[in-house]
Amino acid sequence: MRYVILTGASSGIGLAAAKNLLQQGFHVLAVSRHKNTDLIKYADKQSGKIDYIEFDLSKTAEIENFMEQVFGKIVLAEADGIHLINNAGVLEPVKMMEDVEPSEYEKSLSVNLVAPMALISQFLKQTGEQNIDKRIINISSGAGDHPYAGWAAYCTSKAGLDMVTRVVKAEQSNAKYPAQIVSFAPGVVATSMQKLIRSKSKSEFPHVDRFKAFHRNQQLLDPDIVGKKIAELLEQKIFPDGQKIDIRD
Ligand SMILES: NC(=O)c1ccc[n+]([C@@H]2O[C@H](COP(=O)([O-])OP(=O)(O)OC[C@H]3O[C@@H](n4cnc5c(N)ncnc54)[C@H](OP(=O)(O)O)[C@@H]3O)[C@@H](O)[C@H]2O)c1
Repeated sequence: MRYVILTGASSGIGLAAAKNLLQQGFHVLAVSRHKNTDLIKYADKQSGKIDYIEFDLSKTAEIENFMEQVFGKIVLAEADGIHLINNAGVLEPVKMMEDVEPSEYEKSLSVNLVAPMALISQFLKQTGEQNIDKRIINISSGAGDHPYAGWAAYCTSKAGLDMVTRVVKAEQSNAKYPAQIVSFAPGVVATSMQKLIRSKSKSEFPHVDRFKAFHRNQQLLDPDIVGKKIAELLEQKIFPDGQKIDIRD
């Protein structure tokens, strides 16, 4: 059995990835604050399996216990592969830095950066002695490389996540049974996050017109295309270990 721990499975890119993984026969350990019951029904008709675990990733102090619960659902002796997809993410706060409260930075960085780091820590701890295929995909963004006014927390969290990818690669090079890792930038995708971007004022997000134009000109990617690409990354023989890849490459 091939297991995938997938955060943010309830909507958008995560939901599309979950569906594609279920079609490919993976056992998906789906995580988000709200259980997507339609996804559970969808899983019934696929070759894969699903366990849905509701959890708020901003509660970073609880992640160690949470991951023990997740690994309780994995039969290690039957696992051919165990993978982790850090997909859950938040865009807010979207406004100039002089208007952002410290608690807003904390919330964003907890979900977008501290939680993925803590999940990776537990994943590596739990799978360290397993001589099986182990892949981590960090869902990043072009915003990790390019500064956007109004997105201080989001850009910083994605830049941080990209560095985590590189550090894990450096650490795992010396591991007994190394896990592989990539940062994956999915492009501009038609999800609720893009709706939120378009709802912002120019004073909060000066680039808003560019994103409205992407939408008007139908340049947004279908989440299913991105979900397929994510599932492929777990299947392809050559995995771009330690790199940041972009769906547009
Ligand atoms: N859409 C784009 O154009 C785009 C571009 C570049 C990168 N990305 C990245 O792609 C990833 C997915 O984004 P999306 O566009 O699919 O957004 P989305 O539709 O808003 O989905 C976000 C997912 O994250 C989960 N989530 C949010 N806060 C959480 C929390 N505190 N605890 C647990 N789960 C939480 C949500 O589930 P619940 O609300 O049920 O908790 C939801 O499943 C994000 O990392 C985003 O930064 C998106």
